[in-house]
Amino acid sequence: MLEIRELKVGFPGQGKITWVVRGSFFSAAAGEVLGIVGESGSGKSMTALALTGLLPPEAVAAGKMIFLQQTFNFTKREQWQKIRGREIGLVLQDPAGSLNPLYPVGRAVWEALCYHLNYSEKKAKQEAERIFSALGILPAAKRVRQYPHQLSGGLKQRVMLAAAICCRPKVLIADEPTTALDVTVQAQILKLLYSYVEEQRAALVLISHDLGVIAQMAARVLVMCGGVIVEDASVYELFRQPLHPYTQLLLASQPRLDRNMLHTLPPGTAAAAAGEEGCVFANRCQYRRQKCLTEEPRLKIMTPGRKVCCHYPLV
Ligand SMILES: Nc1ncnc2c1ncn2[C@@H]1O[C@H](COP(=O)(O)OP(=O)(O)O)[C@@H](O)[C@H]1O
Ligand code: SF4
Ligand SMILES: [Mg+2]
Repeated sequence: MLEIRELKVGFPGQGKITWVVRGSFFSAAAGEVLGIVGESGSGKSMTALALTGLLPPEAVAAGKMIFLQQTFNFTKREQWQKIRGREIGLVLQDPAGSLNPLYPVGRAVWEALCYHLNYSEKKAKQEAERIFSALGILPAAKRVRQYPHQLSGGLKQRVMLAAAICCRPKVLIADEPTTALDVTVQAQILKLLYSYVEEQRAALVLISHDLGVIAQMAARVLVMCGGVIVEDASVYELFRQPLHPYTQLLLASQPRLDRNMLHTLPPGTAAAAAGEEGCVFANRCQYRRQKCLTEEPRLKIMTPGRKVCCHYPLV
């Protein structure tokens, strides 16, 4: 349903481009929840923004997206205008920052319906109320007319979700959708996302730095480090036996109730370490050998459905 080929995102400066997404290949099928996990600065949000044509103006991008039997070129952002909000929905981490404080929250939904589906204003407002009800933003008739400051963080995130799904997109991109919320509200939002995927057979690309969220929701996961997809595996296989040294450390750095020692990733961001040659994880990897410093590893197939980008995977 959605196929990404050699996505690159970079920022020009000091006479060169610093690539923060360095040639990603992946796909997501109808009804699939694809997780993307990785530490802060690994390129997850830039991937989400590229997929929705919303990269910052100073960013440069390359590569292709195949979607709805059409090819979209990441160099041509205007191609996304007709599909963003209609065929591809985006849910961001910060609902407060994404909702206009001067407008009633219902407007985020009814404007999308008028713009993409040519609804009349009256019909769009009725539909906004229906969607608010379905997502538990109650009482819906009152809520659509309220302003962002009158809603809790959890309700604001539901409004963002309502705006993202009101045109029934085939693909939803959710970038840290629950990071700012408390655990109970987080579970409710994840459940709503999951129901949408099931009901509409949509593909959900769920981005999180939290492996717990990914494990709960996704069947397959991409692990990102320094702008590179270093591992692509089913969630089950990834947790059972991580093959990339970075994934191994990422799993070990998650707090767990059955372990009283908290492992942490060695300091230093992967992106800062990403040179032109060699492995992005080389300066933090305990398994590093000479080849890792001079030759960039490629994502290679280990077993069906499992890929890893390392010269010396942990098999
Ligand atoms: N406007 C920008 N100019 C230059 N670098 C940027 C800009 N925005 C993000 N970056 C860099 O891109 C890298 C990836 O960022 P991001 O995708 O937001 O990471 P993540 O979402 O995984 O935490 C980071 O190293 C960040 O510093
Ligand atoms: S390629 Fe080398 S440095 Fe990179 S993760 Fe694999 S073993 Fe470590
Ligand atoms: Mg991010």
